[in-house]
Amino acid sequence: MNELAGRVALVTGGARGIGAAIVRSFVAHGARVVVVDDGSTIDGSTADRTVVEAFAEPFGEVVAPMARSVAEPGVADAAVALALERYGGLDIAVNCAAILRDGFVFKAATEDYEHVLRVNLIGAFGVVRAASPVLRDNAKRERGGAPYTWGRIVNIVSTAGLYGNYGQAAYAGAKAGLVALARVAALDLARSGVTANALAPFAATRVTDSIVPQNEAQAAYKAGALRVPAEPVARFVSYLCSERAQRVTGQVFAVRGAETFLFSQPRPVARELLAPDASLDDVADAVDRSFAPSFTPLETDLDAFATEPVV
Ligand SMILES: NC(=O)c1ccc[n+]([C@@H]2O[C@H](COP(=O)([O-])OP(=O)(O)OC[C@H]3O[C@@H](n4cnc5c(N)ncnc54)[C@H](O)[C@@H]3O)[C@@H](O)[C@H]2O)c1
Repeated sequence: MNELAGRVALVTGGARGIGAAIVRSFVAHGARVVVVDDGSTIDGSTADRTVVEAFAEPFGEVVAPMARSVAEPGVADAAVALALERYGGLDIAVNCAAILRDGFVFKAATEDYEHVLRVNLIGAFGVVRAASPVLRDNAKRERGGAPYTWGRIVNIVSTAGLYGNYGQAAYAGAKAGLVALARVAALDLARSGVTANALAPFAATRVTDSIVPQNEAQAAYKAGALRVPAEPVARFVSYLCSERAQRVTGQVFAVRGAETFLFSQPRPVARELLAPDASLDDVADAVDRSFAPSFTPLETDLDAFATEPVV
């Protein structure tokens, strides 16, 4: 259980649910952790600073709480500074903080959309932006030995960002953006040996509890999800942050209890050549012939994962 000894991690949204399980796993594997969590309600409307303080207290010295919102400018930099000052470095950044403000596209408020993106995506970019110069510098200084094999970024995403779900334009958009952020971070930091991956979790938390099923498949999803513990997600995140995962980067995973999934990523699946003078009928024929057999079904993530979880 010492695979993360010497590592310092920053976990946003680490005071509750899946984030808290990740912090517990990191500590159990020997890491020290800065937890940034504003203790907010699911919709991010009200914060409670006591949540992260109460969570961190039993860990003593190895967990440093920071009761701030990742959406606030300067907070990511302050969290990185806290890691450097308190623990003398930073090796791992996990973006787990997220809120939900659902609404069908034909009536959702733009300010709700913006707020979700500010917390779930721009807040995560702030963490990557603040942490990555430190991780690159670690590589130059050969922290932990040469080569530097400690630098890790994990974005906690959602299958909603891969499939879509009713009323989740903001949440799914932010999560899809987090997948792209992990890809770009993986590319930008590859030369420093720093990895970046995306992980879509499934676990019983207050968020799962808040799902309002839209159909039978979604009701089945909720009933199953409420039986899934967060620990397997946390174990996989710890694995991604361990030495053994040094060559694992730019990937999209999901963990649901005993099941661990690797996701494909969108790549062209069919190709047609159309002449400059092609008519709309020619286009339609090409689509019907070559593309229609490979169309992606219009199903939500909750429909796709309505199967009974293995726990
Ligand atoms: N539970 C699931 O099955 C599930 C499914 C898909 C994705 N996820 C993702 O997993 C992550 C954790 O979800 P969870 O179910 O544990 O949720 P949760 O609500 O229990 O935990 C989220 C934590 O983030 C914190 N937070 C919210 N806004 C913040 C902000 N602005 N700054 C700092 N902290 C903030 C909250 O206070 C809370 O402690 C989220 O990214 C969520 O989107 C969860």
